[in-house]
Amino acid sequence: MCGIVGYTGPENPKDIIMSGLKSLEYRGYDSAGVAILHQGQFKRVRAEGKLTHLAQKLDKESFDGHVGIGHTRWATHGEPNETNAHPHKVGPISIVHNGIIENYAELKSELQQQGAVFESETDSELVAHLIYQKNQNEGMSLFDSVLSILPELTGAYSILAVSEKRPEEMVAFKNGPPLILGASGGAVVVASDLQAIMPITKDVVYLEDDEVAFIEKGQVQFYSKNGEALDKATVHIDWSPEQVEKQGYAHFMLKEIFEQPRAVANALEPHIDLNSHTVRLKNVGFSVDGFDQLDQINIEEDFKKTDEVFKSVERIFIVACGTSYYAGMVGEYLIEQMAGIPVEVDVASEFRYRHTIIPENSLVIVISQSGETADTLAALRQVKKLNSVKVLSICNVKRSTIDREAHGHLYMNAGVEIGVASTKAFVSTLSLMNLVAMSLAKAKNNLDVVTENKYVEQLLAVPSQMEKVLAYDKFFKSAADTLKNFKGFLYMGRGINFPIALEGALKLKELAYMHAEGYAAGEMKHGPLALIDSQMAIVMLVPQDALYEKTVSNLEEAKARGGVVISIGSGEDEKLKKLSRHYLSLPEAGWTTNPLLEVLPLQLLAYHVANSLEYDVDQPRNLAKSVTVE
Ligand code: F6R
Repeated sequence: MCGIVGYTGPENPKDIIMSGLKSLEYRGYDSAGVAILHQGQFKRVRAEGKLTHLAQKLDKESFDGHVGIGHTRWATHGEPNETNAHPHKVGPISIVHNGIIENYAELKSELQQQGAVFESETDSELVAHLIYQKNQNEGMSLFDSVLSILPELTGAYSILAVSEKRPEEMVAFKNGPPLILGASGGAVVVASDLQAIMPITKDVVYLEDDEVAFIEKGQVQFYSKNGEALDKATVHIDWSPEQVEKQGYAHFMLKEIFEQPRAVANALEPHIDLNSHTVRLKNVGFSVDGFDQLDQINIEEDFKKTDEVFKSVERIFIVACGTSYYAGMVGEYLIEQMAGIPVEVDVASEFRYRHTIIPENSLVIVISQSGETADTLAALRQVKKLNSVKVLSICNVKRSTIDREAHGHLYMNAGVEIGVASTKAFVSTLSLMNLVAMSLAKAKNNLDVVTENKYVEQLLAVPSQMEKVLAYDKFFKSAADTLKNFKGFLYMGRGINFPIALEGALKLKELAYMHAEGYAAGEMKHGPLALIDSQMAIVMLVPQDALYEKTVSNLEEAKARGGVVISIGSGEDEKLKKLSRHYLSLPEAGWTTNPLLEVLPLQLLAYHVANSLEYDVDQPRNLAKSVTVE
């Protein structure tokens, strides 16, 4: 939720921490701060609001030390103001924290009874007080202080701490949200995400839960929470910082919308045989015992194992949040129709608490772009306790916690997604859901080769079809000023198009802060019809598929109540043209690939309406990209 960066090394910490925070701003952007060593003390500078506010303050500051920590915040406890901004400082101790300390209230009141004075309303400040008690009052080193407070903390956290008593040291520890370390040429960077480390080094170490990193003089040593030394593997990361630049687009989101043809091609590429137009899910990893063995995978054995797992599956659960959940809903339609296996799709925050009954021979598919979403991760961990059930993850961020903990792994391959509203990760997931459905159908002998070839060909056509659909950018750019005046938007579709209606409404809500509802078109007369008048825009998804005529009838019902209809259909559809204020024509596609095309105009609509309202498209209010708290 928040972004952490720490640096020690020969360079100026201010510049490195600020550019690291800039690359992590997607994680939280309601306040930010740094504590950097200057004349033997950690000088703290904090500001409410976006990182630019902090940058302005820092323009006037200089620091002579070579150690510092920084933080960009997404508020959980306490308003987003300067006092609640991190770093939190108690005596010589400064800390930055990402996550939630669940038992903070009781620990805080114990400390207050002993005379501690708290400055902020956050749960995080407590950690600085706890370390202070050990470091200052009991004379422990910073490292020993951290080890001794770990048993007291309940919750999800990643924390970086420094002390003025030995200012050349930093201690990082975590239980939950990610912390990654990179060391090169006497410098060490610690951060919540790779982006902040890549300019310094591409060789990184992932801190695991209940591990502690001790950083001193350009070196890092790793320990368990009990203080035993650990030998940890370094991982080489294969991407460049240029991938996280806007490359001429006004916003990351627009760039990412336009990257979708490539994202789909990259998601499909490993798993499709271009000669036979058939599907085989490659390197899923069910055949090996644990994530660390993925490098030694035997491809043929793994194909066999995936097939074996899929053959035995009698029931599927798909668990995710937000946009990833809607991608899961599309998966439900694909898998049930192609493979004939019953599927249940759940929002992770409900799944984890609803005492779900998961029979033997179930497959649980967890979807998460970030691979860090707290509810999805908790659902995964719950399922893993059932020995008879396999978990397959679909993630964009490789080596993220969800990816590492699942039994089987598929990758969106969408490239880094910076815009807080997910776009390209969604279409990558839809592509993978198609492949999973086909593979399950093959394992169940439910898919003949002719149909398989047809589905694959339709998928392979998607990237170039998407290029055509992206031309609607111009339409929505010019229509945005009119569209923003509607009092609300109703998005509707039937069958596999229904989740796309939900996704379209979510995009408009989160970006343009407008009232938007997604509905199954057949449900309209059971309530939402009452919303419709001339101030309501109706966005109807009406591709040529088995439910076309029924959806057209729903469209007529909406139009008869005075709704302004924008319909999205396939090819030159004269009927839809007549019935609609605007008709948007998509290339003719199959029922399995229509959703991949339909979502593009909906993303562009939300983007341009939000932009014409002058909202921050990449960082919508109150949201953050990686939701690592409940
Ligand atoms: C909406 C959006 C969110 C995420 C959700 C899950 O545009 O991006 O709804 O889809 O927070 O995130 P991941 O996929 O990282 O688990």
